[in-house]
Amino acid sequence: MEKILVLDFGGQYNQLIARRVRDQKVYAEILPYTTPIDVIEKNNYKGIIFTGGPNSVFDMESPHYSPDILKLGVPVLGICYGCQLIAWMGSGDVKTAPKSEYGKINFKLNDSQSSLFKDVPDSSVVWMSHTDYISAPPKGFEILGTTDDCPCAAMANADEKIYAVQFHPEVTHTQFGSQILHNFIYEICKCSGDWVMDNFIETTVAKLKEQIGDKKVILGLSGGVDSSVAAGLISRAVGNQLTCVFVDQGLMRKDEGDFVEKTFTSLFDMNFVRVNCGETFLAKLKGVTDPEEKRHIIGTEFYNVFWDEIKRQSNDELGYFAQGTIYPDCIESGKGDADKIKTHHNKVKMPDDVQFLGLIEPLCDLFKDEVRKVGEKLGIPKELVWRQPFPGPGLGVRIIGELTADKIKVLQEADWVLRDEMAKNGYEKNLAQFFCVLPDVKTVGVMGDHRTYDHLVAIRAVTTDDFMTADWARIPYDILAKVSNRITNEVEHVNRVVYDITSKPPGTVEWE
Ligand code: XMP
Repeated sequence: MEKILVLDFGGQYNQLIARRVRDQKVYAEILPYTTPIDVIEKNNYKGIIFTGGPNSVFDMESPHYSPDILKLGVPVLGICYGCQLIAWMGSGDVKTAPKSEYGKINFKLNDSQSSLFKDVPDSSVVWMSHTDYISAPPKGFEILGTTDDCPCAAMANADEKIYAVQFHPEVTHTQFGSQILHNFIYEICKCSGDWVMDNFIETTVAKLKEQIGDKKVILGLSGGVDSSVAAGLISRAVGNQLTCVFVDQGLMRKDEGDFVEKTFTSLFDMNFVRVNCGETFLAKLKGVTDPEEKRHIIGTEFYNVFWDEIKRQSNDELGYFAQGTIYPDCIESGKGDADKIKTHHNKVKMPDDVQFLGLIEPLCDLFKDEVRKVGEKLGIPKELVWRQPFPGPGLGVRIIGELTADKIKVLQEADWVLRDEMAKNGYEKNLAQFFCVLPDVKTVGVMGDHRTYDHLVAIRAVTTDDFMTADWARIPYDILAKVSNRITNEVEHVNRVVYDITSKPPGTVEWE
């Protein structure tokens, strides 16, 4: 398989660079700048991209790399800090720019014949974010383009296949960014484009078959996208040697547990073990109102039940443990601390008394959107493949105060109406996450000629790219009106509906 290396110097867009390369059907992987050159050489990359980064190349503490990397004969593209690094590694000159450039800047080509700028017009908009600039390119390099404040905004030594741009071709604000990356990948690195999801499924299934042999595999299925797709792939490879353990703690959305069970038992060949433990969870949570205590009890109980079942299923026969870890969960940071690997909730900590032959993570090379593509190709229903994020503690953190079976039922019904109405209006695609909350509040109402004193339901709906910040969604009034009307009419014991118009910050997405 053709591979492009994204050498990480700590820039904020590094994952985006890898995704943009993969969008062009070539596999890209990210390695920290501390990766030794012989490791890079062994990997036979078709090209190497140096990322941006927050530092100044002339600061000795900054991430640097051996100039030998430019002698491997592998085409290189430097971006932003990566561009300055190429100048600094050669005989070029990098200085603090008299004027920093941030945002959209007009870029003019000097050399429209350069392979990097094939089919790019002489003048276009690029996205800049830099305070240093190259005042003189290294020997052997030609300046390919400039901006008003940057005398060397793109440069190349075409004979050595070394290219560099001060701007960010990976962000959509750079008008011809995808074309420039396409040119690097196909015109300069001469890739053919073999990274397609059909190939991925085929080769992964073959690898899994070989790795697993006739052994058993156990996977914890949550009903989320990643574990579902991992289960689908492993089932394709080894059929009912796979056992999926699905713990239903009674805190999922209406009928969700049944849907997950039906999907996997009808679509795939596997042993599907569902552990229904809603009542045990409720007993453990009786009288508990503190959100963090609820989370702790739900989390601890979940893993107790999960590992007990896994021990029972493995039946003293040594097999593999599988999980749906995806690429962003595994990438090492390039910010100078190469040993630090992001810990993530997808990486489950194994108790000491459970033994496995090894770990299987079939999605560890994929980004989320690629996982979804694989899921679709495997025939997993879109409700699962495009499922919005759902917190581990489930409805437990959407019922404020003590949990009871009655409250869970009210919330499940109200939430179902909201989802049904969003689907009917085709509005789901505009929202990153939406759900109902049951605050511990009753209010007075009137229904028919009767006074009521019943539950209040809140609707929460947000738009966001990364969930670190979020905005409340501007759902049209008539959709909100329909949802409110249906909830108060169709869900028993609800007489009032409110809409949460708080952004994050100061609010969080969930109420607890
Ligand atoms: P907050 O409420 O922190 O939510 O703004 C951001 C995103 O994280 C999800 N979330 C959780 N996910 N366990 C999870 O697995 C949790 O305890 C948890 N709390 C919040 C939330 O649904 C949103 O997508």
